[in-house]
Amino acid sequence: MSNRPLRVLGVSGSPRKAATEFVIQEALRHAKEKYNADTQYFSVMDKKLNFCIHCDHCIRTREGCVFKDDMEEVYELLEWADAYILGSPVYQGNISGQLKTLLDRTRAMVAKNPTVFEGKIGAAAAIGGDRVGGQEPTLRSIHDFYMINLIFSIGGGAFGANLGATIWSKDKKAAGAEADKQGLKTLHKTVDRLISVSNKLRG
Ligand SMILES: Cc1cc2nc3c(=O)[nH]c(=O)nc-3n(C[C@H](O)[C@H](O)[C@H](O)COP(=O)(O)O)c2cc1C
Repeated sequence: MSNRPLRVLGVSGSPRKAATEFVIQEALRHAKEKYNADTQYFSVMDKKLNFCIHCDHCIRTREGCVFKDDMEEVYELLEWADAYILGSPVYQGNISGQLKTLLDRTRAMVAKNPTVFEGKIGAAAAIGGDRVGGQEPTLRSIHDFYMINLIFSIGGGAFGANLGATIWSKDKKAAGAEADKQGLKTLHKTVDRLISVSNKLRG
């Protein structure tokens, strides 16, 4: 086992300081307080994140993305972390456009270093206004990103958290997420799993 604490990056894919931010901060608090993880947080809120324009600059040069915007900050954090918890509000039954943009832009990292993500571990959290509003497709989209990029994809385990954390905010921002006690159980179970599998894989 490596001596240094596990590095966990939490990402909120919401453009607001609201339910998703609360959920990801709670995941990081749990990881830090229960497991002494070293944590970092990134939110898409107020960030300039250009769409990938498929110019292939990253493929041709292998020097990263043509855009110099707020992705620079998250590129560094994505490299730094051993484990991720990516969270998204459910928009039209799936991840937010902001999170999708962030994920698309990681193509430049892989173009530069094809194994940049290899061996990292990822879990997911989906926060919907409705009880069954598309949380599971949202989790699946995040897991697809992990699979494509050689990141080990971690659910929350059977009998409780299955594909990850599913939160019902009732469209009430942070207070709504905080009131969803069952949803928070899925979050804690997912983080517990993320940490235990990460520690096993680190040896
Ligand atoms: C464009 C848009 C689409 C949405 N689509 C859904 C949806 O398909 N299913 C759902 O449960 N909630 C949907 N919602 C509600 C949000 O998922 C919900 O309020 C969530 O808690 C927002 O997260 P935030 O408070 O972190 O911004 C949508 C909200 C927006 C703005």
